[in-house]
Amino acid sequence: MIRPLIYLSALSLLAGAAAQQQYNGSSEVDISSCPITYYGQKYEQLYVNFTGENVAVCFDGFYDPETGGDCFVGPPFVEEVFKFGTNTDDNGTFKRALQTLESDLICTVDLTFPNSGQEVDLTLGNFGPEAAVYLFTENEGSTAFDVEIAGTKFHTLNVTNYPELVEGFSFLDISACRVSGEVYPPDSQVSSDPDTCTSVTCSSTAELRTTGCGPSETCQGNNTCLMDAIYTCTLVGPTVIDFHDNVAYVEDRCAYVVLSDPTAPDYRVVATYQERRRKDVSFLDSFILEGPGFQIDIRQDGTVWVGDTPVTSEELKQLVPDMQFSLDQDGLFFTFPMFNYTFSLFFDGTMAQISLTVPPLEELTLQGLCGNSNETLSDLRFSDLSASGCEILYSDTPDSSINCITATDFCDHLLEDAYTSCHSVVDPTPYISACAETLCSYPSVDGVNCEFPGAYGRACSLHGVDIGHYWNSVAECSPSPAFCPGRTCTANEFCGERLNNGQTGCLCRALFASKYRETNTLGDPTVCGPNSASLSLVGCLLEEQGVDYSALHLFDPTCTGQIDEQNHMVTFTYDNINTCGTLVTANGSEIIYKNVVTNLNNYTNVITRRDQVYIDFTCVQTQPDLKTMSFRIKDSSVIVQVTSGAWNYTLTMNAYTDSKRTEALGSNTDVLLDQRIWVELNTYGLDNSLVSVVTDSCWATPDPSPTGDVRYDLIVNGCPNPNDPTVMVYGNGRGTSNYFAFNMFRFTGKSGNIYLHCNLQLCISNCVPACGARRRRSLGPKYKSEHSAFISMAWIN
Ligand SMILES: *[C@@H]1O[C@H](CO)[C@@H](O)[C@H](O)[C@H]1NC(C)=O
Ligand SMILES: *[C@@H]1O[C@H](CO)[C@@H](O)[C@H](O)[C@H]1NC(C)=O
Ligand SMILES: *[C@@H]1O[C@H](CO)[C@@H](O)[C@H](O)[C@H]1NC(C)=O
Ligand SMILES: *[C@@H]1O[C@H](CO)[C@@H](O)[C@H](O)[C@H]1NC(C)=O
Ligand SMILES: *[C@@H]1O[C@H](CO)[C@@H](O)[C@H](O)[C@H]1NC(C)=O
Ligand SMILES: *[C@@H]1O[C@H](CO)[C@@H](O)[C@H](O)[C@H]1NC(C)=O
Ligand SMILES: *[C@@H]1O[C@H](CO)[C@@H](O)[C@H](O)[C@H]1NC(C)=O
Ligand SMILES: *[C@@H]1O[C@H](CO)[C@@H](O)[C@H](O)[C@H]1NC(C)=O
Ligand SMILES: *[C@@H]1O[C@H](CO)[C@@H](O)[C@H](O)[C@H]1NC(C)=O
Ligand SMILES: *[C@@H]1O[C@H](CO)[C@@H](O)[C@H](O)[C@H]1NC(C)=O
Repeated sequence: MIRPLIYLSALSLLAGAAAQQQYNGSSEVDISSCPITYYGQKYEQLYVNFTGENVAVCFDGFYDPETGGDCFVGPPFVEEVFKFGTNTDDNGTFKRALQTLESDLICTVDLTFPNSGQEVDLTLGNFGPEAAVYLFTENEGSTAFDVEIAGTKFHTLNVTNYPELVEGFSFLDISACRVSGEVYPPDSQVSSDPDTCTSVTCSSTAELRTTGCGPSETCQGNNTCLMDAIYTCTLVGPTVIDFHDNVAYVEDRCAYVVLSDPTAPDYRVVATYQERRRKDVSFLDSFILEGPGFQIDIRQDGTVWVGDTPVTSEELKQLVPDMQFSLDQDGLFFTFPMFNYTFSLFFDGTMAQISLTVPPLEELTLQGLCGNSNETLSDLRFSDLSASGCEILYSDTPDSSINCITATDFCDHLLEDAYTSCHSVVDPTPYISACAETLCSYPSVDGVNCEFPGAYGRACSLHGVDIGHYWNSVAECSPSPAFCPGRTCTANEFCGERLNNGQTGCLCRALFASKYRETNTLGDPTVCGPNSASLSLVGCLLEEQGVDYSALHLFDPTCTGQIDEQNHMVTFTYDNINTCGTLVTANGSEIIYKNVVTNLNNYTNVITRRDQVYIDFTCVQTQPDLKTMSFRIKDSSVIVQVTSGAWNYTLTMNAYTDSKRTEALGSNTDVLLDQRIWVELNTYGLDNSLVSVVTDSCWATPDPSPTGDVRYDLIVNGCPNPNDPTVMVYGNGRGTSNYFAFNMFRFTGKSGNIYLHCNLQLCISNCVPACGARRRRSLGPKYKSEHSAFISMAWIN
């Protein structure tokens, strides 16, 4: 009763058949629009031969009766022509006849041979990995096609029609797998290797499947896979939870061996410790992974270094080809073979988890902080990578935000329901005790508290128990990005969360910052050098205050700070060429050069919403005390080193016998009475553009004391003595040097000794004394102050 149904559906199919292309004689047909997988071999061409003895439809080339091929070989037909087309609507026809087909029809390849008006159809169905064929004919009697694989007859499509029932079908499922020329039917095994526990099968949909041990299983060599053992070691802050759940606490800032194996000296894992916000608590800081030919330094800020150079993940892959490396917002992840095991390291800058996959039944005998050695902590110190003095312990002031009771409550979260599914697999006790030990001595900042539930959750998932993303179960913890994106912190800094806005940045380590914090400064004191001044601020102190160093400038907003990429010091300078808006004022005894480091642009704004920075940046020149100094001249030059100010300068006095002041008056030079003498007063180390030197007065005495009764004035109030027409003063108050001339004289009734004394002053503006007839007496000289430099020289007979 089934046949008529097939007949009806076949009729409708033939009626609706798409346009077919006619071929005359033996032909090659492109079937790439509907490729056919013939017993596991996929083909995109068909070759049809009319040989006179038969008709052959082959996949792998034109028919060769000697060798055969992957072919259907049928009876000879009267006409050597056929039609070819593709179709998609033969689904039901195949499915009703062949229950073994699991996949859905994609398309068919239809070949039609007009055999004296009685068509013979060969239809190939593409069912994805599966395939099927049917033969249909209206011819009376038997029409049979041999189904050959590589020339060997495998099956026969045979339609026998009787006069009362013509138009019969013959169906065949031609799905199979083929491996090395061998054909394997669906649902059969292709191969099996007990040594590696792998087996290859041909699936029910004729696809090859390779099965073996799972990713965390090892083959026992007898076709048995056993689960590998996973050992985890967790390091958070100062605490270490080793492979065997012992908890250790690192107190100092040294380097420690984390994993080593005396029988495999090529490999080693070392961790370094450094303080962060508190001087009395150490934190895991970096890892050094050593293997044959490589040493990789993984730092707390998320950068990876080889020697002194940061490396990219591509460079890392070249260095260690076996290494898989990834960096995402949770942290860094490395995995590679080490100590004959699969070693992996996760590090987010504060928490690190090391895991080793060890074949079943094997004992783990590694040493180090994570291993099962019975060495003490100090035995594990790795002096090669430890800084000297790293073992010194410091104390720090108590932090009122540390509350051991609250901390313990927090750590006990790990006993709650959210984690119970993991308790039998990973014991929470060491995580709770490491958590409490840390949080009773260190504040819950930088997300350090959340690292403990995070580490526990991660250990659970390594052991196949997924308790969700490990932050979710603790209300106080939200995912925060690991590391400081795009930043490289210096050795004096660590990457942490800024307390003002919660963003990450390079913050100062406690020991480094202590000298600044004690004096409440942001940097080193101003350095007043010759003709220049500089001020250096500490980058991480600015960062903690939320101050962007690039917004800081001097009075002149174009004078900004230069950051040193090595140590993150931000330096501001001004000098006599580029004064950066320095204000120079005189204040009694001092000349004050004032500038500030600030982030304010408009001093007239009434309010600002930025944190204001206003750091005084001032150098001072002190006028020297008026002191009597007497010089016995060997030659005519006197040098006074004026060192009493913060800004050093020298003052010299020289005598010459020519107006160009090239012929210095030496100790052996005879000076004649009424000979003209030029005396030059010079300063060095003063900035011409900012200050001037005024010779206020010069006078001569017959004795060394400048204050004796007998004196003769040469310069008075910055001007030549009006009673001595030989005295001329040049350049007074116009720069940092000036000179004057007079004709030599001697004191009547005294020895020939002449002591010359001058009083000089530093002056800022309006320094040129008004001399002569037009002088307006009422105003008086502006440069005058009570303090002045005093210099003397003597001519001795
Ligand atoms: C096929 O080709 C041959 C030779 O070219 C020709 O004689 C014959 O009529 C053709 N047959 C058809 C059906 O076109
Ligand atoms: C099959 O057809 C091809 C192309 O026409 C021809 O070269 C080849 O000799 C034919 N093979 C046989 C066995 O007739
Ligand atoms: C064949 O039938 C299945 C199930 O009814 C259907 O999903 C599939 O699309 C059909 N294929 C074609 C080519 O019509
Ligand atoms: C086809 O089937 C008929 C009837 O069952 C049989 O007589 C004939 O030998 C078969 N032909 C071949 C080639 O197997
Ligand atoms: C396979 O080998 C392992 C280890 O040698 C052994 O424990 C296990 O019982 C063996 N399994 C079988 C099925 O022989
Ligand atoms: C690693 O495996 C090799 C080969 O099995 C062995 O010779 C070597 O001793 C093993 N090394 C360690 C550290 O176990
Ligand atoms: C631990 O110490 C004992 C006794 O000193 C020693 O026998 C044993 O080998 C040590 N174990 C390891 C792993 O070093
Ligand atoms: C001058 O400067 C000194 C020191 O900076 C200061 O104590 C004094 O008050 C200042 N005097 C005047 C008049 O500004
Ligand atoms: C400074 O602020 C005042 C008041 O807001 C404004 O009038 C003035 O133009 C500003 N000056 C500059 C240079 O921006
Ligand atoms: C002043 O400068 C001189 C010469 O450069 C130098 O020897 C002296 O130490 C300096 N004095 C001070 C206080 O800086």
